[in-house]
Amino acid sequence: MSTPRARVEIRPMAGSLGADIDLTGPVDDDSFAAIRQALHDHLVIHLHGLELAPEGLVALSRRFGPISRAPYIKHMDEHPDVVAVKKAADERKVSTFGNAWHSDFSFLDQPPMASLLYASHVPTHGGDTLFANMYAAYDALSDGMKRLLDGLDALHSGKPYGTGGIPGNVAVSRSIGIERNRPEADREIPHPVVRVHPGTGRKALFINSIYTQRFDGMTAEESKPLLDFLYAHAIRPEFTCRLRWTAHDLAIWDNRCTLHYAVNDYDGQDRLLYRTMVQGERPVPVTPRVSSMV
Ligand SMILES: [Fe+2]
Repeated sequence: MSTPRARVEIRPMAGSLGADIDLTGPVDDDSFAAIRQALHDHLVIHLHGLELAPEGLVALSRRFGPISRAPYIKHMDEHPDVVAVKKAADERKVSTFGNAWHSDFSFLDQPPMASLLYASHVPTHGGDTLFANMYAAYDALSDGMKRLLDGLDALHSGKPYGTGGIPGNVAVSRSIGIERNRPEADREIPHPVVRVHPGTGRKALFINSIYTQRFDGMTAEESKPLLDFLYAHAIRPEFTCRLRWTAHDLAIWDNRCTLHYAVNDYDGQDRLLYRTMVQGERPVPVTPRVSSMV
């Protein structure tokens, strides 16, 4: 008797990016190839009804490439490649992890190419994740702005430690173990403002409202007006999609061409997800930088 073949059904989630995927059968080589192609085509994919204990999440993540560990987040003792993203029902009015538009850990020399997030326990409503398409954001700019940005680098730093959204000195969710004052997170790393995706050859805007500090060679004050314009432009509603979680869902997104935002609107309810990240490459500029040629 032959083994039943896996079936992969893909449905676009919104006009700009995102796809829902129903998977029947095991993730064999053919279905994994279809999943990887869907990630290229749709930038964020939402797979439903998977039984992935943290071990299964790690195994699936490794099929994309080596796992990247974050430098300042506490990983699970029993699963050192996995971060438990959680907020408890009794934590109210706290800043949560990723509650501002960002791509993951852009301050690393080689930021993660993809992140995987698996839902163990989610609120009955709220706690959605928003995504934005950075190819579309770049494509919609004027030719003059594209020319300007193509030649710019921006400095990224991990110093904000992944939190934002609630201004001022407010508490951060206790469930996320953040280790501050880590030299590898606190330094500034230059990356091109526009990066070329190695898989698709397309240009994507690469700025990040949590980690981008300023343009290279400019002050923070000089950089702010243009960065603020780009942050607002990048998340125009037509560039976005909204992912609504149910337990046993898996989201996979490409950090090289998307931003995401974890909506913190579920005080009074428990939420627990497991996250891994896949190692990426150093971002590729549109034109080689002089400093990178010496
Ligand atoms: Fe994130």
